[in-house]
Amino acid sequence: MATNADTIAFRNALGSFATGVTIVTTRDAAGQDCGLTANSFNSVSLDPPMVLWSLARSSLSMEAFRDAEYFAVHILAADQEPLSNGFAKRGADKFAGLAPDRGAGDVPLLAGCAARFECRTAYQYEGGDHVIFVGEVIAFDHNDRAPLLFHGGRYALAARRAAALTASDAGDADAPGSFGEDFLGYLLGRAHFQLYGRMQDSLARHRLDAADHFVVTILGIRDGRTMSEIGEMIGFTGARITADQVASLAARGLVRSDPATAQLWLTDNGRRTMIELAAAAKAAEEEALGAFDDNETALLKHLLKHVIRHTDPGLPDPWAANREAN
Ligand SMILES: Cc1cc2nc3c(=O)[nH]c(=O)nc-3n(C[C@H](O)[C@H](O)[C@H](O)COP(=O)(O)O)c2cc1C
Repeated sequence: MATNADTIAFRNALGSFATGVTIVTTRDAAGQDCGLTANSFNSVSLDPPMVLWSLARSSLSMEAFRDAEYFAVHILAADQEPLSNGFAKRGADKFAGLAPDRGAGDVPLLAGCAARFECRTAYQYEGGDHVIFVGEVIAFDHNDRAPLLFHGGRYALAARRAAALTASDAGDADAPGSFGEDFLGYLLGRAHFQLYGRMQDSLARHRLDAADHFVVTILGIRDGRTMSEIGEMIGFTGARITADQVASLAARGLVRSDPATAQLWLTDNGRRTMIELAAAAKAAEEEALGAFDDNETALLKHLLKHVIRHTDPGLPDPWAANREAN
């Protein structure tokens, strides 16, 4: 065992305890909004409803919380990592650009959180280099947003094990030299095939094949791309864009092209078709993810993005130009 003098080892050991992430806010005696990111939050009592959190003595917010009659704890949602980082910056103007609602004692209430607890300060306890604040909850709200987690000194996302994977689903590790049911390529390929299988009726209704669908979708993300740009973007699917295909899409009134520049645009009819196909794709996605809650959906997408980034041979990103424009 490490000795208790080894602060870094102690901090690392505490990091094994996965927590949510909160922002605790209050208003100081001068009427200034104060707040910070804290993962020391915990429940204390159901009747009366009470919660606690602890604040480092070195915090610039100490005086405000010491004197505060009210404070609010916000449990952050998975997409609020930037907000968490902002409120973890010592002495920063943390509320810049935010327009918080007001709770008891005019305490700032942040939007978009997974849950919020308005508290009346009930007790304060000395806790070494921290002060422990116990609050009686006087109002709260919550929703189904996936929570942001913190584990091992890093942000994390949650998945409920029971719904995500039962022990019998977990399968055995592949024997060396064989493909088992857990081979990633099989799982990704089959999931893709089955998801797209659900779109076949919509594609058939519009007399489009998979390659047409990719072209219409890429133009839906951004118009005016050239044939070769589109070819590069859909190449990873195995589909090709050909002059015959473009002529056929144009004859059906879905795209128009400029022969001089080889640029393509969706017509009004093409854009309507693209929107209908996008709706069908969203419905297929919802059906496929039906067994997951928001947490698991966010986690699945996060992990898939990680695989894509990790294996990317340098494919063009269809959304990049839109991101730059925003
Ligand atoms: C995930 C996370 C959890 C944190 N938890 C706490 C905590 O429980 N208590 C605390 O005093 N500081 C905690 N901090 C650090 C404070 O957010 C940070 O020191 C902040 O700059 C304090 O702001 P202030 O000095 O302006 O009051 C945490 C930071 C992060 C990123």
